[in-house]
Amino acid sequence: MKLLVTGAAGFIGSNFIHFLLAARPDSRIVGLDKLTYAGNLENLEGLEGRGRFSFVRGDIADREALDALFAERDFDAVVNFAAETHVDRSIQDPGVFLQTNVLGTQTLLDACRAHWQRGGRWAAGKRFVQISTDEVYGSLGPGEQAFREQDPLRPRNPYAASKAAADLLVAASCTTHGLPACTTRCSNNYGPYQLPEKLIPLMIRNALRHEPLPVYGDGRQVRDWLHVEDHCRAIALVLQKGRPGEVYHVGGRGERENIEVVEMLLAILARETGDAGIGEPLIRHVTDRPGHDRRYAMDASRIQRELGWQAQIDFEEGLARTVRWYLDHGDWIERVVSGEYLRFYELNYAGR
Ligand code: NAD
Ligand code: DAU
Repeated sequence: MKLLVTGAAGFIGSNFIHFLLAARPDSRIVGLDKLTYAGNLENLEGLEGRGRFSFVRGDIADREALDALFAERDFDAVVNFAAETHVDRSIQDPGVFLQTNVLGTQTLLDACRAHWQRGGRWAAGKRFVQISTDEVYGSLGPGEQAFREQDPLRPRNPYAASKAAADLLVAASCTTHGLPACTTRCSNNYGPYQLPEKLIPLMIRNALRHEPLPVYGDGRQVRDWLHVEDHCRAIALVLQKGRPGEVYHVGGRGERENIEVVEMLLAILARETGDAGIGEPLIRHVTDRPGHDRRYAMDASRIQRELGWQAQIDFEEGLARTVRWYLDHGDWIERVVSGEYLRFYELNYAGR
């Protein structure tokens, strides 16, 4: 299986590449990434040179570059992780979210069609997987049932709206052109290699430095936490066995209020480090995110029924593993915060 993985140097993309290379010895992967501030090539360090993985810097919105790549490598499948992903940034500056998440996705779909369709027929065995999010459905109230695949899309922030638009473009390509695509929509991921602008790694780093922990509003917003390794297993299954045209939910069965997550992190960190300065007095309730979605929860019964997937990593255990990873990779996180990681490409790849 020859795969193009976009957003390869990001949090989930890089975890997926590590996962698939280990799980599928027959896989060959090209990782494509624009290397925005969110792309960290250190996440893929050591994978090249073994003959099964190579990295290409590029933009999913650059049709010429995509055409050259498709012509050179005969991909069997594309998994599209590439996106602008941080909700807070989308509230400040939505333009790049539309450029990458909407136009970029359409450009990638067009490239697939141009290279995978001949005389109106799709070459056999091709697959496109779009990685989407629970945010496209908007916000749930406390007693409401978890989102199901057939629920209407009601995105409420610019990031979510751009991802919903991308999902609709993928669906349109399936209907209009017969693109063999699946879309996965997952809940909040956590695990290794996540940038410390997102809740869990941010709180870990601040707590270790005895810095304030900014909890938005009352902190009673609920997210359904999914360990990234469980997510990667789900994507691999959808890639292999998903029904074209179908949407699959991937949820962690890990609903927790943000404030509870922060308290759990503090307890784990205090236990692991024995540092008496790590505790709840560090928590600061700050101004809430505008339009902050109150609750997400995913009904993942379709992927369980059809593909036999369910989350295996329980949240307490996954969180403790994640904390240990960040404790063991203090250098990684500090190179991200200092911006040093942005030089990795120039130092190791430029001029090749
Ligand atoms: P991330 O921000 O860590 O990584 C995104 C990657 O995409 C980065 O490496 C970035 O450089 C790259 N990128 C951005 N613009 C690009 C472009 N135009 N062309 C090529 N590469 C580009 O994000 P993540 O958390 O790994 O999320 C991956 C995907 O999963 C996204 O599509 C996101 O919407 C979706 N998702 C994430 C979560 C989560 O909890 N992290 C949950 C649901 C869905
Ligand atoms: O639900 C899936 C989404 O999860 C993905 O589609 C997004 O790409 C991903 O970034 C993530 O979005 P969130 O906005 O939920 O993640 P974030 O880590 O930014 O925030 C998680 C929750 O914690 C959210 O309710 C906001 C809150 N929060 C976040 C930060 C960064 C805080 O209270 N304080 C903070 O400092």
